[in-house]
Amino acid sequence: MEEFLNLVQKLVDASQRHENYRDLECINLIASEGLKSPAVRQMLSLSSDLEGRYAEGENDFKGHVKKRYYQGQEYITAIEDHTTDLIKRLFGCSWADLRLVSGTHANLATFKGLSMATKNRKMVVTPLSCGAHISHDYAGLAGSVLGLENINHVYDVDEFNIDPDKSADVIRAAKPGIITFGGSLFLFPHPLNELKTVANEVGAYVAYDASHVLGLIAGGVFQDPFSEGADFITSSTHKTFPGPQGGVILGNCSSKRMEKAIKSIQFAIFPLSTSNTHLGRLPAVGIAALEMKIFGAELAKRTVENAQTAGQYLYENGINVVCEAKGFTKSHQIAVDVGEFQGGKKVAHQLEAANIILNKNLLPYNDQDNRDNPSGLRIGFQDVTRRGFGKGDIKHLCDLILKVITGKNAPSEVREMVIAMKREFNEVKYGFQSLEEALNLIKRT
Ligand SMILES: Cc1ncc(COP(=O)(O)O)c(C=O)c1O
Repeated sequence: MEEFLNLVQKLVDASQRHENYRDLECINLIASEGLKSPAVRQMLSLSSDLEGRYAEGENDFKGHVKKRYYQGQEYITAIEDHTTDLIKRLFGCSWADLRLVSGTHANLATFKGLSMATKNRKMVVTPLSCGAHISHDYAGLAGSVLGLENINHVYDVDEFNIDPDKSADVIRAAKPGIITFGGSLFLFPHPLNELKTVANEVGAYVAYDASHVLGLIAGGVFQDPFSEGADFITSSTHKTFPGPQGGVILGNCSSKRMEKAIKSIQFAIFPLSTSNTHLGRLPAVGIAALEMKIFGAELAKRTVENAQTAGQYLYENGINVVCEAKGFTKSHQIAVDVGEFQGGKKVAHQLEAANIILNKNLLPYNDQDNRDNPSGLRIGFQDVTRRGFGKGDIKHLCDLILKVITGKNAPSEVREMVIAMKREFNEVKYGFQSLEEALNLIKRT
C-alpha cells in the first residue's frame, strides 16, 4: 500500500511540475503541438460530464447525428451538430465528422473508408523520408494495420516538394484508389492543382492531411486544398488549429461519388473504429473555431512570417536552413541541417537543456537507416507566435538558439535567459482570455 501511495504522490507531483515546466519555463517549438487559449481551456473544464458519456451511432450526409444507440442524448446531439456546423462553415464545406479522437484516427477512417469504396488497396503517398506521417506509410497504419499497398510520389529534394510531372506518371501507372498529400515535415504547399486531373483520370480520391497546417488554412494562407482538388481533408485539431487534442475529416457531399465515399468513411468511423468518441472536447473545438474565424487570418500570417524570419536570421548567422532559394518556408515550420554540429539528436538535447524544446528530424537526403541521429531539426513557430512573439523577439530567440548550437554558451546559462524571456510572453494572444469574453463578443455582434 505504501508503495502504491508513493506512486500516486509522484504522479501528482510530476503532473504539477510538468504544467510549470512546459507552460511557464520552456520555449516550445515542436511543430506538431498547439497552444490553447484560456477560453478554450475554460470550455474544456466546463465539459467534464461530457467526458464520461457515450454517443455511438450513425451520422447523415451533412455530418449531423442521424441515429444514436443510447438514451440521454438530447444535449449531446445538439453539441455534436453545432460543432460540426461551425467547422463546416469555417472551412466552407458541406460535410464534417468530428468523432475522430486524433489525426491518426482521421487517417485510419479515411484510408479504410476510401479503400472500401474503391475496392482498391493502392495508395500513392509522399515517402516517409520526405515528410509524410507514419500513418500514411506501409511501416505504419496504412500498410501494417490497413494492409494498403504504398506507392511513393516522386519527391524533388531540391524543391522540398512532390515532383508533379513524375508523380503524374507514377499515378497513371499505379492507378491507385487514394492519393495522399500533406505531411509532418511540410514547408511548401503540395501540388494538388497540378495532380487533380490525373487523379480524376484514374478515379482516385484525393485525401489531404492538414494536421500540421489546418490553422493556416483556416487563416487563408498556405493553400486551399478543396479549391485545389482535395476530396477530403483529414486533420488533428490541436496543432496550428489551436483546439483540444482530437481529429476531424472534412469533405463536400456534392455527388454520388462523394456520397459513396462519405458513407464508407462513416462506416469506418462507426462501427469499425470508435465506440467512445471523446465528447468532452467538442464545445472547446467550437470555441477554437470562433477564435480562428476572428483572429485566424492575422495569426496565420504572423506565424508564417515568424517562421520565415527565423529561417533568414539563422541562415545569415551561419546555420544551414534548408531551401534558402525558396525563402525557407511557406508554413509554420522550418527545417535546419545541423550535421556540422554533431547532428539533430545532440543539438535537440542541448537545446532541451536550455529549455528550448524542439525535435530532431530526418531530412530527405539523410541515411534513412540512421533515424536515431538524423542531421535535421524541425522548428515550429505557432506557439511562440500565439504568445505574441514579433520579428524582433524571433531574432532574439534565434540568438539564444545560436548560442547553444555553436557552443558559445553552456545550455545551463542559456536556460536562465530562456526562462527570463518566457516570463514576458505568458499571455495567449489571438484568442479569448475567457469564455465570457467570447460570449460577450457574440452578444455585441
Ligand atoms: C501529417 C500528420 N498527420 C497525422 C498526424 C497524427 O496526428 P495525431 O497525433 O493527432 O494522431 C500527425 C502528427 O503529428 C501529422 O504530422
